[in-house]
Amino acid sequence: MIDTVTPGDKWEFNQEVAACFANMLERSIPDYKSMRALVYKIGEKFVTPGTLIVDIGCSTGLAVEPFVEKYKQNRFLLIDNAPAMAAACRERFKDNDKIMVKEGPAWQFMMPGLGASLVLSVLSLQFMPTAYRQKLIQDIYHAMNPGGAFIFVEKIVSEDLDDLMVDLYYDMKRENGYTDRQIMEKRRSLENVLSPLRPAWNVDMLRDAGFQHVGMFWRCLNFCGWVAIK
Ligand SMILES: C[S@@+](CC[C@H](N)C(=O)[O-])C[C@H]1O[C@@H](n2cnc3c(N)ncnc32)[C@H](O)[C@@H]1O
Repeated sequence: MIDTVTPGDKWEFNQEVAACFANMLERSIPDYKSMRALVYKIGEKFVTPGTLIVDIGCSTGLAVEPFVEKYKQNRFLLIDNAPAMAAACRERFKDNDKIMVKEGPAWQFMMPGLGASLVLSVLSLQFMPTAYRQKLIQDIYHAMNPGGAFIFVEKIVSEDLDDLMVDLYYDMKRENGYTDRQIMEKRRSLENVLSPLRPAWNVDMLRDAGFQHVGMFWRCLNFCGWVAIK
């Protein structure tokens, strides 16, 4: 379904958004296909038999879907605090008894020793209060097996020339068919809901949580992806 959402004053992941979410992401994330392909290719290198795969802020389940298709013997914990998103994700995977979809804030479900070999957070932590992010990343670390990977994709504030990056980002949205009005309405609606950080701050949080190796695997304009190994 095509994204024609008119956002309210404060952005919400409601049913209307869930229904057109794939189209919204394809048209709103720069270099979207490469990002998706890399998340999968990197993730594949870390999944081990019988372990848990976690997706934080899973939305409708798009990031984890290729893993579900391939790793039929692994268990999956998919978390989202938006009822419409959790419902859409449950519907996508309704015939799969290896999948648990939990509705609620991510920090409620990240317990030490969950035995995860792979944790994904694709464009999700950016929607959580900044004060909660370090603790959540720490909890993710403790939920993982040694040698496991945390794949973390975020919108960012560039170190320099941020206005230029954002300008180019809006050009991309225009090229993908969004009107100036749609772009500005979404921007207003996301204020104080989506809080991007500088790349270095995200890396510091990963290192402070204990991750031994942290590498940026993707960047386009004001979006960035890292893989962090425990
Ligand atoms: C941009 S979407 C994520 C896209 C998805 N990961 C993908 O790859 O298709 C952000 C998601 O994070 C969820 N979210 C925001 N805050 C959350 C929280 N505190 N706990 C769990 N999920 C949260 C939202 O409900 C939304 O579905």
